[in-house]
Amino acid sequence: MFSVYHLANPMIEASYHFPRGFLWGAATASHQVEGNNANNQWWRWEQEGRTDGASGLAADWWGGRWREDFDRAAEAHMNAQRISVEWSRIQPEPDKWDEDALEKYRAMLRGLHERGMTAMVTLHHFTDPLWLTERGAWETEAVIPLFERFVRKTVDALKEYCTLWCTINEPNVYALMGYVEGAFPPGRHDLRLAMRVQVTMLRAHAAAYRLIHEIQKEARVGYALHFRPAVARSRSPLDAMARRIRYNGVNLAFPSGISAGVMRMPTGSVRVPEAKGTQDYLGLNYYSVDTVSFDIRAPRQLFMHSGYADDADLSPTKYLANTPEGFFASFKWAERTYPGTPIIVTENGIEAEDDVIRPRYIAQHVHQMWHAVNFNWPIKAYFHWTLVDNFEWERGWTQRFGLWALDPATQKRTKRRSADLYAEICQENGLSSEMVRKYCPEVFDAIFPPGPPVT
Ligand code: BGC
Repeated sequence: MFSVYHLANPMIEASYHFPRGFLWGAATASHQVEGNNANNQWWRWEQEGRTDGASGLAADWWGGRWREDFDRAAEAHMNAQRISVEWSRIQPEPDKWDEDALEKYRAMLRGLHERGMTAMVTLHHFTDPLWLTERGAWETEAVIPLFERFVRKTVDALKEYCTLWCTINEPNVYALMGYVEGAFPPGRHDLRLAMRVQVTMLRAHAAAYRLIHEIQKEARVGYALHFRPAVARSRSPLDAMARRIRYNGVNLAFPSGISAGVMRMPTGSVRVPEAKGTQDYLGLNYYSVDTVSFDIRAPRQLFMHSGYADDADLSPTKYLANTPEGFFASFKWAERTYPGTPIIVTENGIEAEDDVIRPRYIAQHVHQMWHAVNFNWPIKAYFHWTLVDNFEWERGWTQRFGLWALDPATQKRTKRRSADLYAEICQENGLSSEMVRKYCPEVFDAIFPPGPPVT
């Protein structure tokens, strides 16, 4: 589907540069890299055999291997990293704080600082302490003061090394996967409950936003939204309706709550006035564009089927498609929804054990981001998902998103070519035609169009 390597004018070099101070890094989440995170609901879900393999040692960050991985990131010229902290470690029981766990996170953040990298810390990334699960987790508003206590304790302990905070990662994914599709714990199929969970999460986010600003004046606080553009599979009105329902259902709850203080959801609107304006940046997790059709056989999915275009450039397990134009569309949506609000790409990446699709995925997405930057949309940072292969939730170890490959049995890391490409991008603060020619010549013409012939 790609044109042949462009040889017409091999001497002409071009590059797409980013503004000075742009942050380049990778993103990780505690449960996916730390290992032996035995005190949360995901570990239990894994022990019940609900995932494709268990997290086990993961990337063994809790055993100290974050050091060597941060070295890798620094050697790859990254100047930032997004990590998350594990609530179940910091507060193993409702009335018990683990100061040693906090000290370990302080050491990690110090480690970033020493390597010249800006830290971004996520306070909740899918995992809940078991004691919270037993109390209904995010299904009731009782979680809000509990989350506040945890945030206060954690931010107080880590504020010396971090000013960039992400309260909650992908509340939409947590709620829809756990309470509609049922592939995440608690494995429910209850749309109303899914919406209630999101309302509770938004209230907790708003409370955390204020609290963090109280503790740290210079803090920048937001959350990470999984934004998923969607197109209808055909021109049929049923497909168009299915697309609209899915698009709105996935994308709009938190964003409308934050822009208007009213959450727009498929089950109706809910007023959450305290959430209005509670973001200093929009955290954008972008992976792919969905192609949606109406499906009478899918009542659990609300009669929608979501897949990819027939000619899509798919990842090896077909979990994701390489749709860089959707990245640009996401920035456009973000800028329209929140004019002038800084945008941080909190995640973007693709699974590919063989690393064939990843170089072009990276190059094409960075190109689209450059395009968006040139509209003067305030994009400040890009965090690639992810540094080293990690535990991918219900998909376990079947998908590999790392710039470095990991053998979880031996903990051996092996650099993929994509890591070299990304290192060059970080070092250059941009993408050059040389890089594209070297790592993904198959998309050269798409990124550096040859233009009309010169006579
Ligand atoms: C999540 C990550 C996950 C990634 C790739 C995102 O939705 O935030 O935790 O690993 O997708 O599956």
